[in-house]
Amino acid sequence: MNGLELFPGPVLGIETSCDETSAAWLEGSSVRTNIVSSQVELHKRWGGVVPEAAARAHVEAIVPVLAEALGEHRPEAVAVTNRPGLIGALSVGVSAAKALALAWDVPWIGVHHLEGHILSPFLGEAKPLPFPHLCLVASGGHTELVWVAGLGDYRIIAETLDDAAGEALDKGARLLGMGYPGGKAVQDAALGGDPDRYRLPRGVAKDPTKFSFSGLKTAVMRLVEREGARLRVADAAASLQAAVVDSLTDKAMAALDETGSGAFTLVGGVAANLRLRERLAQECARRGARFKVPDLSFCTDNAAMIALAGSARLALGERSGWELDCFANAPLPGLGG
Ligand code: KG4
Ligand code: ZN
Repeated sequence: MNGLELFPGPVLGIETSCDETSAAWLEGSSVRTNIVSSQVELHKRWGGVVPEAAARAHVEAIVPVLAEALGEHRPEAVAVTNRPGLIGALSVGVSAAKALALAWDVPWIGVHHLEGHILSPFLGEAKPLPFPHLCLVASGGHTELVWVAGLGDYRIIAETLDDAAGEALDKGARLLGMGYPGGKAVQDAALGGDPDRYRLPRGVAKDPTKFSFSGLKTAVMRLVEREGARLRVADAAASLQAAVVDSLTDKAMAALDETGSGAFTLVGGVAANLRLRERLAQECARRGARFKVPDLSFCTDNAAMIALAGSARLALGERSGWELDCFANAPLPGLGG
């Protein structure tokens, strides 16, 4: 199979699984609008996402975000994230999607958030990505290497034993006094820092199927305690970023060599990291593999990728019914052995 079959008409996407309220409308794989309202300011004071506060903020934001994304347009189908995520947060998007599908009398579909991330490199692409390919999903909640044989045909090649890559950056940033969310703050602070000043662990070196980031958090904690006021924050940030980038790159390239895949994609919030993008691009080029990463705005949570995944599912004839529920945890649809 090559490329992705998509729903023929315009599709509205809705994403409210965590701390971004987003709506987008898509024609084919072209993103007409992608509006994202972030709750970062709200959750900053607690240093992480507070589920109850997130749900209430989605209730406030959902209609203005939808209105801005839609303008005068009326899509012919609706796609919404219904799993995995914070139940209260997901419920806001799913309720809005059901109401719009009922009012417009159009087909609609619940989408797995990670399938949205996995398909995000296809957004706006004239030239379709080949199946199969290898995909690194790196976000605040996930770190997985996925063999993508086709839509809904996935195999997990490597996963994390503990924290996700984004979580490691967020926790490390907090220990370094950089606030929330940490990924972008670490990237900015690392500019001009020396990544070799502090040696931080790279996880389980021996097992190509397992990432591990919890030791990194502990090591940063010890570093902060040990160095005290002497700590060079830029160097610590650069060392932290290097540890995450090295762990991800090493396992990803081992899997690329092992599978012999001719194409590699990088998705999820951590895919916005410029150092990681650069490293993986270089390593793929060295191996003659095609490297694809979405535009920055489609790496962190957004509704455009949900509209795309929904569009592909709708094109297969799949539809959700009014009984569709939300799930905090859910396996990727179509996980093979
Ligand atoms: O995909 P995402 O928006 O939400 C989840 O589904 O988790 O990913 C959020 C994660 C956070 O951990 C954040 O720190 C990280 O992505 N992130 C970054 C960058 N921008 C966001 N990590 C590294 N470098 C960045 N520029
Ligand atoms: Zn995400």
